[in-house]
Amino acid sequence: MTQTLSLADLRNNYVLGSLSETDVAPSPFEQFRHWFEQALSAQVAEVNAMTLATVTPDGRPDARIVLLKGADERGFTFFTNYESRKGQELAATPYGCLLFHWIELERQVRIEGRVEKVSAEESDAYYHSRPVGSRLGAWASVQSAEVADRSIIEQREADFRHQFGDAPPRPPHWGGYRLVPDAIEFWQGRDSRLHDRIKFFRLADGAWRIARLSP
Ligand SMILES: Cc1cc2nc3c(=O)[nH]c(=O)nc-3n(C[C@H](O)[C@H](O)[C@H](O)COP(=O)(O)O)c2cc1C
Repeated sequence: MTQTLSLADLRNNYVLGSLSETDVAPSPFEQFRHWFEQALSAQVAEVNAMTLATVTPDGRPDARIVLLKGADERGFTFFTNYESRKGQELAATPYGCLLFHWIELERQVRIEGRVEKVSAEESDAYYHSRPVGSRLGAWASVQSAEVADRSIIEQREADFRHQFGDAPPRPPHWGGYRLVPDAIEFWQGRDSRLHDRIKFFRLADGAWRIARLSP
């Protein structure tokens, strides 16, 4: 017997806040920082977890969650394996989209732009700030590749631990990417689905144009 999920009746009304063209900061980075701090204060779980969307060479969308590790006027930084599926997709098409859903605040932030590798110095600095287990994990995992069973990964981890001890160097295939935004949309849930959507578009001279989008 098949069971059907009753999803049609699942709905929330959003009432916590509002956002207008005049409330937002003139720079989307400043606006992001403001909302991020509010999400931190609201103790949103995994506040820096974001969906990263990329595209395959034949135009199929792909997505997964990564952790935001830096945000400033240059862009939004995350770290991963450069040879992973996402790494290969970004090598072929260096564009991505980042999406945050801060459910406790009824907010969504959507960031689009070009993706570039961060400098080796930046990757080194973050790599060496991580616990040794994570540093060895970056060596042990051939991220996104099929593996016959878990014991192979655990054996690789033990082998690298034996080789490097507590001081593994950063693997050449592991480091950071920065998404340099050309558009950022801030979404605030409102009553009766009349949500607020304020979008920043980067202009050729580097200034930002602000527009309201229909919900
Ligand atoms: C909460 C959360 C945080 C994650 N953070 C990262 C991260 O910062 N970097 C990363 O490479 N993978 C991270 N992952 C794992 C990715 O979602 C994904 O499984 C992995 O990067 C392989 O993706 P790919 O095969 O598309 O390259 C995280 C997963 C979750 C659920």
